[in-house]
Amino acid sequence: MQIALVTAISLHALAGVFWAGTTFTLARSGGADAESLFRPQMGAATLVVLTGVYLWLQLHEGPPSMTEHVLGIGILAALIAAGVQGAIGGRALQSLRNGAASESDARSKVALAQRIAALLLAVTVICMVAARYA
Ligand code: HEM
Repeated sequence: MQIALVTAISLHALAGVFWAGTTFTLARSGGADAESLFRPQMGAATLVVLTGVYLWLQLHEGPPSMTEHVLGIGILAALIAAGVQGAIGGRALQSLRNGAASESDARSKVALAQRIAALLLAVTVICMVAARYA
């Protein structure tokens, strides 16, 4: 059994499910309790990207076929989602902590960031599971 690959794809899928799942939840809840989920979410996103790069290097080297193009679209959507969550959501939570923004302003920015990310990560999940059949 290829222990390294099995470990990488398992960590990748687990962290991906957490990242996408908390994003869908925070999008639905309007960013309620985002303070306790933001750091684990960004941690999961980092683990997804690191294991994803490893999987790509191990399994998808060489000229890209349709599978790699579909994976690429999913990867791009995930990277933009992380950027939006980090830049808009993270900054809003920081200004809430510093008292530089009102609760409602910061919460609506967090909700917006999570809703944009939810749409992008929905694309990512579809691309991830559909790529091998493309
Ligand atoms: C929320 C985000 C993500 C989720 C839920 C996710 C989930 C998955 C799942 C379930 C698979 C296995 C598909 C299968 O075997 O049929 C997969 C494969 C893969 N993912 Fe992701 N992924 C995410 C983001 C990313 C990112 C950001 C990267 C790259 C930086 C990436 C790179 C890959 C690669 C290269 C594979 C192919 C592995 C193979 O050929 O078996 N993924 N992903």
